[in-house]
Amino acid sequence: MLRVAVCVSGGGTNLQALIDAIDKGEVRNAEIVRVISNKAGVKALDRALSHGIQAVTVDRKAFPGDAEFFNALQTAIDDAEPDLVVLAGFLTVLPSGIVQKYKNRIINIHPSLIPSFCGKGYYGLKVHEAVLKRGVKVTGATVHFVDEGCDSGPILLQKAVEVKDGDTPQILQKRVMEEAEWVLLPMAVDMIANGVNI
Ligand code: GAR
Repeated sequence: MLRVAVCVSGGGTNLQALIDAIDKGEVRNAEIVRVISNKAGVKALDRALSHGIQAVTVDRKAFPGDAEFFNALQTAIDDAEPDLVVLAGFLTVLPSGIVQKYKNRIINIHPSLIPSFCGKGYYGLKVHEAVLKRGVKVTGATVHFVDEGCDSGPILLQKAVEVKDGDTPQILQKRVMEEAEWVLLPMAVDMIANGVNI
């Protein structure tokens, strides 16, 4: 059984998609052993708790600096003894110590077709605002392995999503989540848990 730790910062709909896919047997041989949030009181934590999953908060605001925060984050991850760390809407770039320790064992979901609309400053709704501003007709989502850069690691899965006339960032975000993110993230975990060649 692949032990999965999921890091979150907000609503946790990607976490929910993973929980549901595991429940339905669409993701095989994987269990979520801990959910870790870098923000207190977010909905993702409730989603974990209501499924009987350990929920841990490592609130950035509770620490004097980055070093102390990332130390506590690493401890929260290490204590879960994960085989895989999933960044599911986790809006903090991991320091190299954590990336090195879990080399090739951390994946991230990003709401665009990398290398478009990614990197520093592109997260959440900001990605979809930039997509609409540029006027591209196709966007999507990407699951990639995490390296020491920002959205720069090897790509595992991508799915395209149409941009439609009249889209707002919110409408587009919802379509990208429904059609791409919530499909790709469980698929990626299933692939990793079941030794599909990647
Ligand atoms: C998702 O769209 C995810 O792809 C994005 O934040 C949202 C979190 O939603 N992540 C990034 O932008 C990372 N760069 P969720 O909390 O409902 O899963």
